Amino acid sequence: EQKQKVKTLIAQMTLEEKLGQLNLISPSIVGGFDLPFPELVKMFDEGKISFEDFGKIINSADRDYQEDDIRAGRVGGEMLHDPEIANELQRIAVEESRLGIPLLIGLDVIHGFRSVYPIAIAEAGAFDPDLFERTAGMAAKESRTQGVNWHFAPMIDVAHDPRWGRVCEGPGEDPYLASQFARAKVRGLQGDLSCVDNYVAACPKHYVAYGACESGRDYNTVSMSASMLFNTYMPPFKAAAEEGAASVMSAFNDLNGVPCTVNKYTLREILKNRFGFKGFVVSDANAVRECVDHGIAEDDMEAGIQAVNAGLDMDMGTGIFLKYLAGAVADGRVSLDVIDEAVERILSVKVWLGLFEHPYVSKEAMSRYDILPEEHKALTREAGQKSIVLLKNEGNILPLKKGQKISLVGNLADMKEEIIGAWGMNWEKKDCVSILDGLRNAGANISYYPCGGPEGDLNENEISKALEDGDVIVAVLGELVAMSGEAASKTDITLPGKQRDLLQKLLKGNKPVVTVLMNGRPLALGWENENLPVIVEAWHLGIQMGNAVADVLFGEYNPTGRLSVSFPYVTGQCPIYYNHPNTGRPGSSSKFSSRYLDAPFEALYPFGYGLSYTTYVYSDLKIDDKGDFIDVSVNVENTGKYPGVETVQMYMQDVAASLVRPVRELKGFSKVSLDPGERKNVAIKLYKSDMGFYDNHGKYCLEDGKFNIYVGANSRECICQEIVVKF
Ligand code: IFM
Repeated sequence: EQKQKVKTLIAQMTLEEKLGQLNLISPSIVGGFDLPFPELVKMFDEGKISFEDFGKIINSADRDYQEDDIRAGRVGGEMLHDPEIANELQRIAVEESRLGIPLLIGLDVIHGFRSVYPIAIAEAGAFDPDLFERTAGMAAKESRTQGVNWHFAPMIDVAHDPRWGRVCEGPGEDPYLASQFARAKVRGLQGDLSCVDNYVAACPKHYVAYGACESGRDYNTVSMSASMLFNTYMPPFKAAAEEGAASVMSAFNDLNGVPCTVNKYTLREILKNRFGFKGFVVSDANAVRECVDHGIAEDDMEAGIQAVNAGLDMDMGTGIFLKYLAGAVADGRVSLDVIDEAVERILSVKVWLGLFEHPYVSKEAMSRYDILPEEHKALTREAGQKSIVLLKNEGNILPLKKGQKISLVGNLADMKEEIIGAWGMNWEKKDCVSILDGLRNAGANISYYPCGGPEGDLNENEISKALEDGDVIVAVLGELVAMSGEAASKTDITLPGKQRDLLQKLLKGNKPVVTVLMNGRPLALGWENENLPVIVEAWHLGIQMGNAVADVLFGEYNPTGRLSVSFPYVTGQCPIYYNHPNTGRPGSSSKFSSRYLDAPFEALYPFGYGLSYTTYVYSDLKIDDKGDFIDVSVNVENTGKYPGVETVQMYMQDVAASLVRPVRELKGFSKVSLDPGERKNVAIKLYKSDMGFYDNHGKYCLEDGKFNIYVGANSRECICQEIVVKF
């Protein structure tokens, strides 16, 4: 019936109306809005207004939403987040356009709408697909009731280079974890069909290999083997397509010389044909026009023709499809079938979203979350707790005791806007719990001395007072939100500004120093690891950050978070990732091995790493070939004093194959809760069908032979057994 509705509509549409459906109106900082916002763009470029303020202004009522174009059936979607404006634009589309086709209303809801939860790099470290799904479901409900029916999320770019600012937006360096994340997010966004206000269309992005931009510089070129592409960067997109994602966003970068916007191989052959993706593909903002800058098309029209023929269904922000494709159809450079396919894919999503029957948000729905529900706060806090990673806890300084006199240091501790992370959307300051607020809420005995932060000078007077006052110093340091995210690549990923000086001064006070980090990328922490007794990686955790941090510092929550990315000692080790291919001379202390003269070859803190207030011992690894799968089991015992939850990780190494394989690859994990002294047997299935790899023709190969199976607390500390497998 839904298919029939779409077919009937297409049969009635003029070519211009069809191209209208392929046209997404988007206020883009780069180029897209040449006309309405030149002055604003200039101010933004000159650093006179922040990204957030820029976003607020372009989403305000003064913006040109191109109502006349909507009326004429020349618009398929808009980008905004105001329910009244959304309703008005839907009204024009539904009541005043010839065919009454409603609009997609899209937005970058990457990690929460009003209830902002942890950035993806942090949340992925919870190793908790159920959590990933629940947080996405909350974001879907909060935004749909504000008229947004399409999220430009999840961001599922695997990334190996922390210099890249957008590493914060994605689920880290591992394709297996990223695929679990992708599946769960798509389910969370699209899964609750019980009511139209509860679900949105997902848009996994950026397809593909955007996270591999050369030297970590945003938008930079990407070259890689087919094997690397299929084994590392494609899996989350394959997973999202299998999970039924309604759309996918193509990436800005070129891949082996062909921009992803016009890449027929990745879009048509792989995504649509091989992965069976049923949704539509939207470009990134202004990306069709940027094909001219890439030097792959001479002008806008040629860029549009290449893009639509390659399988790009919707153009974000340039209007090129609308302007030129009718001419291209007339002169035979684009076939009507190609246009019809794109229209069909887009209309099918609109039908599935229930927009034809329910184009508007009701008044009741609009105000449903005006008072932030306690369960949303609780879920955001839970996600925060589970994302915090304890990196070092020498002498068990943590957990703190409530009576201890704390000097809280660092201006980040009191900056509500700095807990949100890149792409914060509809958050409200009144909902935000800073670390200072969180510690106060927990009843801590604190004096607060800002002393300094990621930018600016130190306040020596405050440093002296902090050292005099507290029995323990809690220093909240890191990066500003603006230091990670889009177009925020860096060549130096050590703590910015004078924060290391601040730490040196604090250490001189001979009092325990607990360092809590707020940042959106892995930092190079060689010096900090050497000199500081306690390091807590708290990322950007969203609105409940302060409460979640207090829960961990006081032991109300025993940390369980793990790193979804490797942390280097120094920036020069980047790119860095645990699952790198084997070399002929693996890194060691020997001169002619794959190593550096001036830094370790391994990560400081590897993927999967994270401490707890208790300790676990692994023993009795058993591997049992059951035919279709291998049963991997291990005993895990809580040998410490606190109850805890351990993330048991299972890795595999293909010992000898027809292509060089990674030294280890995550293949499964399981969380187990254990009381002190308790021991449990944990079993994880390793399906043989998952033990293969893609070769350089993109063909999946299962090769008999020896495999090492590793189980442990992180990608480095594992126990191992060998098994010979026949497929
Ligand atoms: O969704 C984003 C994308 O991640 C980066 N460019 C702009 C898009 C729309 O805001």
